[in-house]
Amino acid sequence: MPLGTSTSKPVRDQKARTKPNAKAQDAIKLLMADHATVEDLFKKFEKAKNDEDAGKDAIVKKICDELSVHAQIEEEIFYPATREVLEDEDEEMVDEAEVEHAGIKSLVEQLKEMAPDDELYDAKVKVLSEYVKHHVKEEETEYFPEVKKTEIDLEALGGRDGRRFRALCSRHSARASRHR
Ligand SMILES: [Fe+2]
Ligand SMILES: [Fe+2]
Repeated sequence: MPLGTSTSKPVRDQKARTKPNAKAQDAIKLLMADHATVEDLFKKFEKAKNDEDAGKDAIVKKICDELSVHAQIEEEIFYPATREVLEDEDEEMVDEAEVEHAGIKSLVEQLKEMAPDDELYDAKVKVLSEYVKHHVKEEETEYFPEVKKTEIDLEALGGRDGRRFRALCSRHSARASRHR
């Protein structure tokens, strides 16, 4: 007698009952999408740099905003969760990432107080883009690959069970649209 007759039905019913709208998202993919967004914004800034009417102020505000929320997500959720599963020697990567964040955040804070015609404004954006590029490269080529080798559930971290991750993103979008 083949399997899958009326007696096996309850299993399928149970599966169908899992939350229909809760689409789990891989935390690393979400973070990498943020990295790409910021990289695009820095490219936009490069193009707008020498044009007074190109709205570089708005581009820099967006960069600062994106970097602040991204750093918060990593520091409050991703770094502590991955610290727990990484080998002791790989935890050095997390330490270094935190130190790099401090440098990035200091420039972000300075830029938030500045106007585009201030001295060193363009230079600070340029140095910020270099810090970010270096930091992103380390995360994507060293840190994230080590995390992927562990047993951590990246979808739980990024989506359904990692509610805070998404809450921070939506709080950020609400705040950003209020300032637009
Ligand atoms: Fe980071
Ligand atoms: Fe990152």
